[in-house]
Amino acid sequence: MTVLVTGAAGFIGYHVAEALLGQGEPVVGLDIVNSYYDVRLKEARLERLRRHKGFTFIKADLAEHEKLATTLAPFGPIRRVVHLAAQAGVRYSLEHPFEYIGANIIGHLAILEYCRHAEGFEHLVYASSSSVYGGNDKLPFSVDDRVDRPVSLYAATKRADELMSHSYAHLYGIPQTGLRFFTVYGPWGRPDMAMFLFAKAIFAGEPIRVFNRGDMSRDFTFIEDIVAGILAALRTPPASKPPHRVYNLGNNNSEPLLKLIAVMEKAIGKKAKQILEPMQMGDVQATYADIDAARRDLGFEPRTPIEVGVPKFVAWYREYHGV
Ligand SMILES: NC(=O)c1ccc[n+]([C@@H]2O[C@H](COP(=O)([O-])OP(=O)(O)OC[C@H]3O[C@@H](n4cnc5c(N)ncnc54)[C@H](O)[C@@H]3O)[C@@H](O)[C@H]2O)c1
Repeated sequence: MTVLVTGAAGFIGYHVAEALLGQGEPVVGLDIVNSYYDVRLKEARLERLRRHKGFTFIKADLAEHEKLATTLAPFGPIRRVVHLAAQAGVRYSLEHPFEYIGANIIGHLAILEYCRHAEGFEHLVYASSSSVYGGNDKLPFSVDDRVDRPVSLYAATKRADELMSHSYAHLYGIPQTGLRFFTVYGPWGRPDMAMFLFAKAIFAGEPIRVFNRGDMSRDFTFIEDIVAGILAALRTPPASKPPHRVYNLGNNNSEPLLKLIAVMEKAIGKKAKQILEPMQMGDVQATYADIDAARRDLGFEPRTPIEVGVPKFVAWYREYHGV
């Protein structure tokens, strides 16, 4: 039965669509293909998805919510949705706040309304973010922690999505799983994220900007582990009442930024020139996922330490950019 994957031209959406198609599941991919980052990378991902005969692509803006049901009508009953389309990025939300309301709030509601009216609807899996933990200083972050102190508008929209989902699960019984991803990286990754920016600068012999003077740590999570978690969640609709669960998907290992840089220097075979800078507004000092609930309910098990994942990312980067 067809799965709708929103954000299919994006980093995580592309990998999820590939994995589903590889398992023989037909996929309808939806994306606005906006120019938040290099559109050629999004087109290249789509080009690879189009090689599968089970793949259909729709270019559409979820914020145009009134068009969604008509746009999807030709694909028959869609009963499972992986909703990954969003305006991502913490720093961009300081300059372009309204983009986040359109894509992340109206877009999320558009998907909820679609699911509400879809006959025999089975399960919506949607992307949340570790950023909902905001300034929490208790590590690791647990799904039982308070999450009402976001430090960026991006985080506030992701938390709002979780609350909207909860209300729709309560009101209409729509089975849903929200996944809080922790700094995802890997081949076909996002050019606005630190991992990509570091690789680009180190290859070019240019300096890298190291925020909070390197005193940061992140639970870097390899894309293959995230995809495995998303597919496991999709297979496991919540049995709770209301049928809505939220899980952390992280590597369960908070790595210092300076260690990441060292691993990357080794993979590239070149030293980085570092410019130490203060903390950026909206950023947090550390992230670290408690994944006990995802382990217990979904069998989620991250398998890729940065010493394995970073060289895989660097190998893709070399090949894609011919460096
Ligand atoms: N990559 C990470 O580390 C990370 C961490 C936490 C949460 N997330 C969340 O995971 C999801 C996927 O992230 P990603 O890293 O693949 O980002 P991405 O930017 O690569 O992909 C998102 C896609 O959504 C599309 N999109 C944006 N607005 C849209 C709209 N109005 N209508 C239709 N499509 C629209 C974009 O064109 C893009 O291709 C997002 O919801 C993001 O917030 C990602």
